[in-house]
Amino acid sequence: MISTTPRLDRATLVDWYQRNRERSAQIFALVDDDAFFQRPIPLRHPFIFYEGHLPAFSFLTLNERALGEEPIDPAFEKLFERGIDPDSSGAAKAHERSDWPSRETVERFARTCDERVIDALLHATLIDPSVPKLRRGQAAYTVLEHEPMHHETLLYIIHQLDYAKKGRIPQAHHDHAPPHNPMQIVEAGTAHLGADPDAIRFGWDNEFGPQRVEVPRFAMARYPVTNGDWLRFVEAGGPVPEFWIERDGEFFLRGAFEELPLPRSWPVYVSHDQAQAYADWAGMRLPSEAQFHRAAYGAPDGADRNYPWGAAQPNALHGNFDFERYDPEPVDAHPAGASAWEIEDLIGNGWEWTSSVFAPFPGFEPMASYPQYSADFFDGKHYVMKGASPVTARELIRPSFRNWFYSDYPYMYAKFRCVM
Ligand SMILES: [Fe+2]
Repeated sequence: MISTTPRLDRATLVDWYQRNRERSAQIFALVDDDAFFQRPIPLRHPFIFYEGHLPAFSFLTLNERALGEEPIDPAFEKLFERGIDPDSSGAAKAHERSDWPSRETVERFARTCDERVIDALLHATLIDPSVPKLRRGQAAYTVLEHEPMHHETLLYIIHQLDYAKKGRIPQAHHDHAPPHNPMQIVEAGTAHLGADPDAIRFGWDNEFGPQRVEVPRFAMARYPVTNGDWLRFVEAGGPVPEFWIERDGEFFLRGAFEELPLPRSWPVYVSHDQAQAYADWAGMRLPSEAQFHRAAYGAPDGADRNYPWGAAQPNALHGNFDFERYDPEPVDAHPAGASAWEIEDLIGNGWEWTSSVFAPFPGFEPMASYPQYSADFFDGKHYVMKGASPVTARELIRPSFRNWFYSDYPYMYAKFRCVM
């Protein structure tokens, strides 16, 4: 079992906050000034919203709502409080506005928020078992994990921006023929979903509490489905993924910062609906959330692992995550990340779609610091994703972490594999 001693080192928290803020600044710096008020994905706000949202959320969540401090600027705090997840461009129109404040004004507000948040991380009472928002340091960790989740969102929005309107982070790319992809047997056993609040440092509300699911024996592909695999599906009449560009009968990949000849050995990024269509065509299925857990964290000896590869903290040998890259890499690039069943690339290189509708575990309680975080999405229309993408921060990599998206949302860094 995972066990973490509850402790809270203020210097570590401040360092984490500042690393988050620096990464935010690097990401915003990628966007050209004239694109800053645009929305490359119509279902999301323009970049200026996120520049205000990140510090406003931190200040509201920690200083104002958990610690009871006075507001900095109530109008800005309201303007920047919440992101959007409308299900259509029509619904997104309701959120359009032409009177965003200037970048200078937003950045000045952000600096004030940062000073106050850092001051609280250094000096305030961050853990108080009698205050729900401060139980186990909840508000502080909510702030610290919220920002890197937005880094991922921002980067996939920037992905859709014209290359001419953004800067570029240099990366080397490798590709080769897709590897042979055998089906690996996962023996019947218990999948442990959901965390015990006392066993992990912090978790979002949808991660609790502990569930035991008996999973019959099944087989899972050693690697996720590649662009090379998907090409055969397209030739058989399957849809062309959003990340592909077709020109003169040839396919290219829309990479984060440059267009590439279609890398056949990289995982294909597709929506849940597209992944489901592929699995149907292949005569297989998408794994359930419990099957993913069993494949990633289960082992023949019956003892669960912290990570597919064992107990070692996640590092660059184990998978493509934590901003080492901004695009995928070959699905067989990380044999050191293999699970006990010799299944690879489970953590990193793209989230993995499951067949499980995003729903609360029994005993679910909305978290005091952010009650809408999950509860707004239990609508039967979002599906669970597990694992991590190239731009998922290492702090978010834990067995209980769940991501979720609409089944037809095509912009996510999400891959999949089949089971039978
Ligand atoms: Fe947010």
